[in-house]
Amino acid sequence: MERLDKILTERGFGSRKEVQKLIRSGAVTVNGETCKKPDTKLDLQKDDVTASGRAVGADKYIYIMMNKPAGVVSATQDNRDKTVIDILPAEYKRPGLFPAGRLDKDTEGLLIITNDGDFAHKMLSPSKKVYKQYEAELDGEITDDIIRAFKEGIVFSDGAKCLPAELRFADEKDKNNAVVKICEGKFHQVKKMFSSCGLRVVHLKRISIGNLYLSSKLTIGSCKLLTKLDIEAIFMGNIH
Ligand code: URA
Repeated sequence: MERLDKILTERGFGSRKEVQKLIRSGAVTVNGETCKKPDTKLDLQKDDVTASGRAVGADKYIYIMMNKPAGVVSATQDNRDKTVIDILPAEYKRPGLFPAGRLDKDTEGLLIITNDGDFAHKMLSPSKKVYKQYEAELDGEITDDIIRAFKEGIVFSDGAKCLPAELRFADEKDKNNAVVKICEGKFHQVKKMFSSCGLRVVHLKRISIGNLYLSSKLTIGSCKLLTKLDIEAIFMGNIH
C-alpha cells in the first residue's frame, strides 16, 4: 500500500506539493469516488485511480525513446548545457528519470530514458550482449584492414581492449559511411575505435539497441513511449 500523493508524484502528475493541491481540489477519484485526502493508502493492483480525468496506471516504470539531437548532453543535470531530461515533453517528466547509457553531446539518435535502474543495468552490461548499432560518417575511406581490425577487437593506446565489433558499409559505393555494431559502451568508444585506425568520425547516430530500431517517424528531439513489445525487442537480438 502506498500513499496517494506519492503514487501520483511518481507517475508524473507534479511535485508532491502540486499533487496534494490537485487531490484537495477534488480532481482525483479512487474507485469512482472523489478522494480529497493525500495520505489515503492504496494499491494500484486493486484500486482504480484517476487524476484530472486520466487513468493512473499500475506500472511505476516508464520507458521513453528519444531521437536525441546534437547539442544536448546525456545527463540528468548540467550547469552549462541542456540535458536530455530538460528537453523531455512535460507529460513524460517525473522524478527519477535518467538516460540509460550515454551518447556524446554531438551524437544523435536512439536514446532510452527511464526510471527503471534494473532494466538500464541489464541493457548496458556487456555480458548481456545487447548490441547497439551506429551510423558513422568518417573523414576518410574505410579499408578491409580496418574492418578486420574491428572484427579482431580494437586495442586503444592505453591498452584497453574492445570486444570484437562488426563494421559494414551502409552502401558499398560509399566507403566513408559505415554501420558499426558493438555491445559495450566505453567512453567515446566508436570515435576512439576509428581514431585508432586513423579515421575521424564526423557524424555519429545510434540507430538500434538490440532489435529495437529508432522510429523513422520520430523527428530529431522528439520522444515516444515504448511498449512491452519494444522492451522485449531490446533483449531479443542478444544471442550473437
Ligand atoms: N561511441 C562514441 O564515440 N560516442 C557515442 O556517443 C556513442 C558511442
